[in-house]
Amino acid sequence: MTPIATPPPQFREIATADIPSLFDVRTRTRENGYTLDQLQRLGITPASVEHRLATSFKGWLGTVGDEVVAFCMADAATGELWVIAVLPDFEGLGIGGRLMALAEQWLWQSGCRRAWLTTDLDPARRAYGFYRRRGWTDWKTEDGQRWMELFPATVSAAGCRRP
Ligand SMILES: CC(C)(COP(=O)(O)OP(=O)(O)OC[C@H]1O[C@@H](n2cnc3c(N)ncnc32)[C@H](O)[C@@H]1OP(=O)(O)O)[C@@H](O)C(=O)NCCC(=O)NCCS
Repeated sequence: MTPIATPPPQFREIATADIPSLFDVRTRTRENGYTLDQLQRLGITPASVEHRLATSFKGWLGTVGDEVVAFCMADAATGELWVIAVLPDFEGLGIGGRLMALAEQWLWQSGCRRAWLTTDLDPARRAYGFYRRRGWTDWKTEDGQRWMELFPATVSAAGCRRP
């Protein structure tokens, strides 16, 4: 029997029309998942994401065939790597790494001299090993979260505004 070939992932910048797909992916991850209600309580709605993308945020997504399977967004005003999410069936294929590379590169090109993110405290979560593998280091634990930071290869001075 001939196996069905999976098309290779494609990557592109997020457009406003993609916003519903971002919520679909963000509510279906294997770990660190959020429901739509939880996101709304955090003020994360389609309208607020559209506003972010129209101001200092930018994002990229990965598709396989016609399906959006992953996305990542960052904020050049603060240096925050705001969100990354990959659907369970598409983890471990290098898609998250490719999206992180796009976001990190954009932050450096935008003048940031330091990037930061918050994640779960549990070091057993895949995200923590993923970030460490990419060179992110622990910054602090606060508000029940782990804060991590990353510096571009050649500089270590503060650039973007800290939260
Ligand atoms: C974390 C996440 C984004 C990783 O995406 P992914 O597509 O599976 O990651 P990749 O396949 O691109 O892995 C990139 C690299 O990280 C490494 N890696 C991934 N998880 C790792 C772990 N736990 N420990 C060590 N290395 C790890 C991979 O081996 C790979 O290394 P390589 O480039 O040398 O081969 C994805 O698992 C996810 O969306 N998780 C759920 C949502 C989430 O937790 N988001 C973050 C919230 S803070």
